[in-house]
Amino acid sequence: MDIKLLKESVEQWIINYFDNKSEINNRNFEAMIYSINVGGKRVRPILMLLTYAMYMEDYNEIMPFAAALEMIHTYSLIHDDLPCMDNDDLRRGKPTNHKIYGEAIAVLAGDGLLNEAMIIMLNQCSDGNLNKIKASALIAEASGAEGMIAGQICDILSEGIIISEEELLYMHRNKTGQLIKSAIVCGAILGNANNDDLEKLKQYGDKLGLAFQIKDDILDVVGDVSVLGKNVKSDECNNKTTFITMYGLEKCKKKCNELTQECSNILNELNLNTKYLEEITEFLLKREY
Ligand code: IPE
Ligand code: IPE
Ligand code: MG
Ligand code: MG
Ligand code: MG
Repeated sequence: MDIKLLKESVEQWIINYFDNKSEINNRNFEAMIYSINVGGKRVRPILMLLTYAMYMEDYNEIMPFAAALEMIHTYSLIHDDLPCMDNDDLRRGKPTNHKIYGEAIAVLAGDGLLNEAMIIMLNQCSDGNLNKIKASALIAEASGAEGMIAGQICDILSEGIIISEEELLYMHRNKTGQLIKSAIVCGAILGNANNDDLEKLKQYGDKLGLAFQIKDDILDVVGDVSVLGKNVKSDECNNKTTFITMYGLEKCKKKCNELTQECSNILNELNLNTKYLEEITEFLLKREY
């Protein structure tokens, strides 16, 4: 399995999707396409495709779901960067959406990406396939008011105050963990995984999502802007409560290592070819961007 090819396939799918809309040549679509095209690791779609590929031959079958998830993630980044949120001006190595298009268009570009993603998934469900319906509902939930949005609310309300470890875990699991976990679980659901596997993959997704955000907090402190593609010390500037403020850098690194090991242990329990998921789990721990 060529992960670079998976990444390119998702990107190509999204480009084609928006090309078909080029007759609607308005500023909203331009702003949506800008944030998608500037790049990104595409971790969520890759995780979904790799999980699905453990069960089924042709991952292209679920490309619309993988693309929709990346569009939802990109919307969350556009909004996360807004002056009323984290007020960041660099994302994926380029000026943030509102820096180019202004705040109003940036808000609408985020809204637009979210709705387009929902349209893509609903259209996939028109054949009545139950797994597709379940996966779509799960992605909508994971990004919704009891998922990513709940985490973002907690993040904003926790600025400058001391919160408990339980609240911090809640925040991380929701703001970032839910979308990562949904990528994996939806890949499995669409691949028609059995309940036993689904349970294990939920645990794997939960731990991977948590490790991902702790690593994100670490990179905010030690990252190199030119590699990371976003400004460092953003959390400190915004008085954020993060894993770093609660435990310090060294403990965070240790926690990340432990979670990665636990992820790997869960993958080992699966009677499947988990080689590629293991590789990406390791990559996410070691990443510098
Ligand atoms: C950054 O996500 C925001 C978080 C949810 C932590 P990524 O690190 O996946 O960002 P891109 O998509 O690669 O830009
Ligand atoms: C973002 O968390 C989580 C989202 C839902 C976008 P951060 O605010 O830490 O993400 P970055 O560091 O700006 O990418
Ligand atoms: Mg934020
Ligand atoms: Mg941010
Ligand atoms: Mg961050």
